[in-house]
Amino acid sequence: MANFNLTVNGETRQVDVEPDMPLLWVLRDELGLVGTKYGCGIAQCGACTVHLDGVAVRSCTMPISVLRDQAITTIEGLADGANLHPLQEQWIKQDVAQCGYCQAGQIMSAASLLATNANPSDTEIDQAMAGNYCRCGTYNRIRSAIHGAAQDMNAMFYDATDTSEASA
Ligand code: FES
Ligand code: FES
Repeated sequence: MANFNLTVNGETRQVDVEPDMPLLWVLRDELGLVGTKYGCGIAQCGACTVHLDGVAVRSCTMPISVLRDQAITTIEGLADGANLHPLQEQWIKQDVAQCGYCQAGQIMSAASLLATNANPSDTEIDQAMAGNYCRCGTYNRIRSAIHGAAQDMNAMFYDATDTSEASA
């Protein structure tokens, strides 16, 4: 066993675990963050996707000992306080989830995509989301919700720009 200091959803957390324990189990079993799901355990399905410094990674195969000072974000930390992430808003608006099991991972991958591509094409969405499987086949609604969130985020950005220009 060893002590590890982690930054999870903006908070410093300490865990005392085996160094080879995957991040997924640290999050779920040690920290009680059960929004991140276990699917395949071999980095093939995307259910366990979280962010390290904003980049989507598979937590099921990532030993806790390989982490350094990266900020870990899980689905529980994606919202900005009481404000849901635009993707979460669109997921609700477009009723994307079916059984829901894969959806936290889908949203985390989509959030990572929109952080680097403000207006992804269908092809870019399909490429970015290719590692996230949905046994319920919600892929069309996922794609539509990502487009919707991209539009919402761009509109928010331009609103903020207009406001700052108007007050300049
Ligand atoms: S549980 Fe990690 S990719 Fe499937
Ligand atoms: S909503 Fe059921 S697996 Fe994706």
